[in-house]
Amino acid sequence: LQGTMSIRENELYIGGVSCRELKEKYQTPLYVFDEELVRNNCREYVKHFKVNENNNKVAYAGKAFLPIHMCKIINEENLYLDVVSGGELYTAHKSNFPMERILFHGSNKTIEEIDLGIDLGVGRFVVDNYYELDLLQRICERKNTKQAVYFRITPGIEAHTHDYIKTGQIDSKFGFALSNGDLHDAIESLKNYNNIELVGIHAHIGSQIFDVEPYLDEVKIMMNLVKEIKDSYNINITEVDLGGGVGVYYTQDDEPRTIKEFCEQIIEKSQQVCQEIGIKVPTLIIEPGRSIVANAGSTIYTVGSIKDIKDVRTYVSVDGGMTDNIRPSLYQAGYECAIANKIGQDKTNQVTIAGKCCESGDILITDVDIMDIESGDILIIASTGAYGYSMASNYNKIPKPAVVSVQNGKNKLICKRQSYEDLLHLEIL
Ligand code: LLP
Repeated sequence: LQGTMSIRENELYIGGVSCRELKEKYQTPLYVFDEELVRNNCREYVKHFKVNENNNKVAYAGKAFLPIHMCKIINEENLYLDVVSGGELYTAHKSNFPMERILFHGSNKTIEEIDLGIDLGVGRFVVDNYYELDLLQRICERKNTKQAVYFRITPGIEAHTHDYIKTGQIDSKFGFALSNGDLHDAIESLKNYNNIELVGIHAHIGSQIFDVEPYLDEVKIMMNLVKEIKDSYNINITEVDLGGGVGVYYTQDDEPRTIKEFCEQIIEKSQQVCQEIGIKVPTLIIEPGRSIVANAGSTIYTVGSIKDIKDVRTYVSVDGGMTDNIRPSLYQAGYECAIANKIGQDKTNQVTIAGKCCESGDILITDVDIMDIESGDILIIASTGAYGYSMASNYNKIPKPAVVSVQNGKNKLICKRQSYEDLLHLEIL
C-alpha cells in the first residue's frame, strides 16, 4: 500500500475515497492522484536537501506530470520548476508560477521557445549546446536583456538504468561533453557573449537510478569543475545542478533509497569534496520528477475480456493500456496491480494484464499473481503517477483518461477525460 491507501471491507481507498466510488463518478480508465503523498514528498526534499538552511533548491521536473494543478502544488510547496518546452513553460505561466523560479531545459530549444522564455522572465536557462548559446545571445541582444544560465555538461558517467533513460554517458545527445574540450570552448566563447551570464553548471546522469555512487561521482566531477572554471576563467560558479531525483519503488525487485538518505549523502559528499579542494560549497540544485509523483499516482481500469488459453496463459484485458501508460512497452517497466474491490483475497491466479490497443506489445503486466478476477472488476495499477499521463497518447483514437485528486475523503477532478469531440478538435472539417 502506497501513501494514503487503505482497506475497508475488502475495498481499496486512496485519500479516504473508495476506488469503487471513483469509478462510478468518473468512469475508467482514471488516474487517481494522492495529493497528500505528493505534498509529503515535496516536503521531504525541502527538508533533507536543506532548502531553508543552506539555500539549496529543489526543482520539480515537470516532464513527469504537469497539469496546472500540479504547478500550483509545486509553487505552494516552495519548489522550483524544471520545464523542457514552450508547452510546459506556458502551463507554468498560466498557473501563475513565479517565473524567476523556473529552470528552462531542452536540448533543442526553438527560437520561439527562447523568445517566450525571455519574455516571461524565466530565472535560468540551462544551455545545452553552441547553437542555443548563439541563439540566446542574439535574442538577448535584440531584447537588450541579460540572461543567467547554467551550462549542461555530459560528465561521462554510466549509470545502471534502462538505455533509453541514461543521459550522462559521453555518447549522448545532451550537453557539452567534458572529455573533448567542448565545455571549455563554450566557456571561452562567453567572451563574445555579453548578454549571457554563466552562474551554474548542470548535469543529469539518468533516471530511475538506485545506486547513490554515480551521483557521488557526479558531485566530485562537478565540484572540481567549479574550481577549474574559477582558476582558468575567473568565473564564479555559484550554483551546481545535479539533475533528477532518486529511483522509486515499482515492484518487489526495486530497493529504493529514501529521499532523506539520498539528499543527505549528496550534501555530505558535496561538503567533503569542496573542503578537500578548497572551495565554498555552492548552492546545490536537484530536479526530482519521478520520486515526487510516481507512487502518488495509480490508474484504475475496468476489466473486460478474459481469455484463458489452456496451459499457456490467461489474458485479462482492461479498458486502457499503452495509451495511458507507455512505460511497459517502451522500457519493459514492471508494475504491481490488485483488484480494488477484492483486496485481501488470496492471490490464486496468474494472469497477464493486456491493454486494448491493436498492438501485441500492449501488455501492462506479464504473469502476475492476482485474486479471482471477473469482467467488471476494478483493476488498479499502482505507481503510475510519473510519466504516465505526461506520456499518454491518442493512438487508436483512444481518449486520454481523466485525472482526479483525492485527499481527506474528498475527490476533485483536475483534468477532464477527453471526449470524442476533443479528439477531432484540431481537424479541419
Ligand atoms: N532533470 C533532467 C535534466 C532530466 O532529463 C530528467 C529526466 C529529470 C530531471 C527528472 O528525472 P527523475 O527525477 O524523474 O528521475 N520517461 C522516462 C523517464 C525519462 C526521464 C528523462 N529525464 C520514464 O518513464 O521512465
